[in-house]
Amino acid sequence: MLLCVHFDGLTIAALSCLSIKIHPESRLSGRLDKSMSDQTTTTVKRQSLHGQWSTRMAFILAVTGSAVGLGNIWKFPYIAGENGGGAFVLIYLLCVFVVGLPIMMSEILIGRRGRRNPVMTMKIVGEEEGRSRNWALVGIMGIIAGVLILSFYSVIAGWAMSYVFMTAGGTFVDTDASQVKSTFELLSGSWKLTAFWHTFFIVITVVVVAQGVQRGLERLVRILMPALLVLLLLLLVFSMNSGYFGQAVEFMFRPNFSALTPSGVLIALGHAFFTLSLGMGAVMAYGAYLPEGTSITSTSVIVVLADTGIALLAGLIIFPVVFANNLQSDAGPGLIFQTLPLAFGHMPGGVFFGTMFFVLLSFAAWTSSIGMIEPAVAWMTESKGIKRAVAASILGGFTWLIGFGTVFSWSLWKEKTFFQGTFFDNIDYLISNIALPLGGLMITIFAGWVMCRNSTSDELNCGTGLMYKSWRFLARYIAPIAVILVLIEAASGGIVSDYLSTIGN
Ligand code: TRP
Repeated sequence: MLLCVHFDGLTIAALSCLSIKIHPESRLSGRLDKSMSDQTTTTVKRQSLHGQWSTRMAFILAVTGSAVGLGNIWKFPYIAGENGGGAFVLIYLLCVFVVGLPIMMSEILIGRRGRRNPVMTMKIVGEEEGRSRNWALVGIMGIIAGVLILSFYSVIAGWAMSYVFMTAGGTFVDTDASQVKSTFELLSGSWKLTAFWHTFFIVITVVVVAQGVQRGLERLVRILMPALLVLLLLLLVFSMNSGYFGQAVEFMFRPNFSALTPSGVLIALGHAFFTLSLGMGAVMAYGAYLPEGTSITSTSVIVVLADTGIALLAGLIIFPVVFANNLQSDAGPGLIFQTLPLAFGHMPGGVFFGTMFFVLLSFAAWTSSIGMIEPAVAWMTESKGIKRAVAASILGGFTWLIGFGTVFSWSLWKEKTFFQGTFFDNIDYLISNIALPLGGLMITIFAGWVMCRNSTSDELNCGTGLMYKSWRFLARYIAPIAVILVLIEAASGGIVSDYLSTIGN
């Protein structure tokens, strides 16, 4: 089948899954050497339009920086709390490794192959494989999802930033649970304060994105990620000595399946996508800047382990405080803002550690937020010829406006609930539980079924041995089936589990 590959202004007609080898030097000069001798591999190598990550470590840090964020420290503990702990955590871990990991590898490999923004990448690679260019729609969906995620993410990140100042100012010293709770309610209930911090967060995100991801981001994550880890470990020591650590471990790791609902399973799956930044092209956009020889498999494994480790760590820090103070484990989005300040208020050096914690949490959110609009910014610059800074500002402004729906969700529109609850509840549900799993499903179908075996094994660079076969099996069968089942289960209110239990009997 004939298809066209656009390469730096040149159009090469080639046969699908035939090899077009380009000499390293000719990439720069634009000379092409079409070698049709090896009919079994596809090595159409493109260059990214925005340079590359300086090292493999820089890429790992950037993807980890995007993955580790509010999802791990703010969201994971509260949804684990709302869904009864143990069983939920187990399903979440399963989703991360069986569905998330292969999809992360798929996103990176598609990104590196396309070397463009997710919209163009899906289109180019789709065409290259002799399939429809409409796969670009997945990229477009991702761009919209990214903007919507940032719209609420920045509100929560804004709270984290305001907690930096409150903690540093001693607001929480020697307070009790009810005072901490009312402080949170004061902040979230004031739309003006919340809007102020939301605005600030959008501005700092736009500033980094405007500079270009590598330049802006590399420097930031290199220092911040290790610092965050050290601080979390320090907090863990505090929690271990709280007397309630055992109870927290039990809550998180002893599965009680009666506490798990079908919608809980969907939330666990959705969170696997959210926490790994999957399903919307963010990792694909980062993969576009990944140097040729870097192993996608080991990189993905490292990122997934780091992300999961930090989420579990956050749970092990927060739940002992919850139990020690008789707090509600299902307190919802306010959970960390109502628990951790209590711990900081009562520990030696609490003002310092507390301030540091919220500083690092804000930074973790910052390094995540960049990845949310990077696909959209890359698309506007590459496809529409808009300057990076202008693109980032337009998108930032747009996201800022939508964000007011979330800003008002705890104040002016608190009572205006529909479908899942407040505006925030709905947008979070739509994104995490529908858009990201659907996007991820498309991506894994694309990598597993649309791209030919040669293309993916060439890109994954791990031969065709067991490693490759396992990835392909997970990407082709397990991940798509799991996502489809979970979506059906949740949409039907439990059809799949009912069916499974009738087979079991
Ligand atoms: N993974 C991020 C977190 O856990 C949130 C996130 C979701 C994200 N989708 C993303 C970050 C896309 C960057 C890009 O906080």
